[in-house]
Amino acid sequence: LKHFLTVEGLSRELLVKIMDTAESFASVTEQTVKKVPLLRGKTVVNLFFENSTRTRTTFEVAAKRLSADVLNLNIATSATSKGESLLDTIRNLEAMHVDMFVVRHTDSGAAHFIARHVAPHISVINGGDGRHAHPTQAMLDVFTIRKYKNDFSKLKVAIVGDILHSRVARSEIHALNTLDVAEVRVIGPKTLLPAAVESLGVSTFHNLEEGLNDVDVVIMLRLQKERMSGAFIPTEHEYFACFGLTEKRLACAKPDVIVMHPGPINRGVEIDSQVADGPHSVILQQVDHGIAVRMAILSMAMRPDLEASAGDRS
Ligand code: CP
Repeated sequence: LKHFLTVEGLSRELLVKIMDTAESFASVTEQTVKKVPLLRGKTVVNLFFENSTRTRTTFEVAAKRLSADVLNLNIATSATSKGESLLDTIRNLEAMHVDMFVVRHTDSGAAHFIARHVAPHISVINGGDGRHAHPTQAMLDVFTIRKYKNDFSKLKVAIVGDILHSRVARSEIHALNTLDVAEVRVIGPKTLLPAAVESLGVSTFHNLEEGLNDVDVVIMLRLQKERMSGAFIPTEHEYFACFGLTEKRLACAKPDVIVMHPGPINRGVEIDSQVADGPHSVILQQVDHGIAVRMAILSMAMRPDLEASAGDRS
């Protein structure tokens, strides 16, 4: 890995290698001393131009567990607010001899743009760009699925909600298809499914109970109101009535179904608290897995010399 900008087009072998490497790091996070010296002397810059709780903090925890130094640029108090361009901000941070940018931005393509302009030794990781891609979220989601379900080729996975505005759904669909999942379903109101979604090799449902029938994995998404403009914004009450995941509706799925959500969750809008906190929910395990998966991606990008032997911690 040099940059990690999207999962689209990546090989099955690479996705499996990231998951296997993450598996080796998951045990590190269970030790009393949760640190390995792999990235000692490296500097990771978290450049978040859009709000985040999970992605930013788990990247910081992951980098620190690899012994890297971490800079969190506070965009609200940075010179961006005085009119400094994105590229000038990047140039100034490069002058501090940093090694990696983790970028979140409201504009689709922002991380790709930065990757095209950084110095050759710098890696760029996409922490979510507009409605385009959230590749590390997709990787931690497939890693989580693999933890609970053995064989991707037998799985039916349903992604429910606002697919239209979701970078998470787009990246998950690419990852699940690459890993040869038996069936990927998207479920939501017509107005929140992209017109061309079936061209991504998924089946579509507009009725939640029908779509959940016999699935192994349910991934819930929130209404991403910050990316909705004009036309259709359902009320939260209307939305929950038709697409809210309740225990009764979840009973349509397989008895050992797992319920996932990238967060932030909106209780009583897309998911009932009894499900979010219930026995099928693996939502907080996803957050935990995010650390190991991001450790894998950080180390594979910054220490390609170690790719062949992820277990080498010397
Ligand atoms: N899943 C996710 O991207 O959450 P944050 O917005 O909190 O980073």
